[in-house]
Amino acid sequence: MICPTHARRASVFERHIHRVGLVPEFVHPADVADLRRSKGAGRPMKEITLKVNGRQHLLAVDPETTLLFVLNDELGLRGPRFGCGMAQCGACSVMMRGQVVRSCVMPLKAVGQDEVTTLEGLGTPEQPHPIQQAFIEEGAAQCGFCLSGVILTAKAVLDVKPNASDQEIRDALGGVLCRCFTHIRMLRAIRKYAEARRT
Ligand code: FES
Ligand code: FES
Repeated sequence: MICPTHARRASVFERHIHRVGLVPEFVHPADVADLRRSKGAGRPMKEITLKVNGRQHLLAVDPETTLLFVLNDELGLRGPRFGCGMAQCGACSVMMRGQVVRSCVMPLKAVGQDEVTTLEGLGTPEQPHPIQQAFIEEGAAQCGFCLSGVILTAKAVLDVKPNASDQEIRDALGGVLCRCFTHIRMLRAIRKYAEARRT
């Protein structure tokens, strides 16, 4: 049964993103399951080493598989999520070489020797990263689906420009969709983190 509140929210969100033209088409969850099942189908597997969150992994996978599916299915990491699958929403964001990249469109073979950092790699439940701590203190997350995109993007901006203005942070987050509409609290958390790292 679908909760009426969530159904209403989902349809408002859907209308909104179609109106602003951010996501031309949704991938239905059933199709995501098909995509996952078909990954590597009929194609040769290869042994590939992948460094994620400080740990080296040896995997036997199809090098064309997207980095997102490898992180989710092979390594069991749930920080990066499948949202649009088209590099449009930011839910699958991870960091490589200090840059935020969208793992839903990146084949594993393109990662090479670069280390991948996911949201889980920033901190631990016992010792969250200061930006994660700020999000906790401000109650800035609801469902958490967008958090990889929001937190990693904000951190990447502030790593390069610690004095970034609110507008610059908003601009950077322009391509990250939050369906729960908690932007105000998120910006408050990001500002709190930015101020703390300056002192
Ligand atoms: S899942 Fe939407 S950008 Fe990757
Ligand atoms: S999508 Fe739910 S908190 Fe952003």
